[in-house]
Amino acid sequence: MATQTYTLAEFIADLTRITSTETSGSAIAQRVAPLLGQLVKHPDAIPPEFRRRPGSGKRGRYMLHRAPDFNVTAVVWGPGDTAGAHNHETWGVIGVIENEIQETRYRVTEGADGGRARVEVAKVFRHGPGAVSLLTPGDEVHAMHNVTDRDTVEIHVYGKDLAGLARKTWEPDGTVKPLVSPKYLNC
Ligand SMILES: [Fe+2]
Repeated sequence: MATQTYTLAEFIADLTRITSTETSGSAIAQRVAPLLGQLVKHPDAIPPEFRRRPGSGKRGRYMLHRAPDFNVTAVVWGPGDTAGAHNHETWGVIGVIENEIQETRYRVTEGADGGRARVEVAKVFRHGPGAVSLLTPGDEVHAMHNVTDRDTVEIHVYGKDLAGLARKTWEPDGTVKPLVSPKYLNC
């Protein structure tokens, strides 16, 4: 008997249930991670139009489900695409559907009076298809880089709507800059 594919609708139903009963961001991320792992095992669970870039060299950013307590988005990184060190101000779970992504995690020690922070690389990962990465309070600063020559397709799930959310980004020298956009930046 063929195994049934875990569908996007089932994943969203599970997220709705988990986020309505669990309040700890870390606990939510821990519970969502294996479910996202199941979802990303089957690329066909995500419609093909959300697994490709829109053309003209742009990154693919697609909202799949937008609820008050969580968002599910698809991200398609082109070859060489990057996002510098940034935080999220919420829990997150990221799963790779196709190809791979390099994720760098940082330890950030804030500078006095909003001055330069100390930004140290904690770990560098290469996540392949089916891999899942958790962002939890206290460990949610990362950078992303598609170091390959092919597109990388991911699903990102966050506990807050990132549109308009006041976040931060750090230069390699520790200079901190506000990261806030009226557009939905789903990474
Ligand atoms: Fe991110």
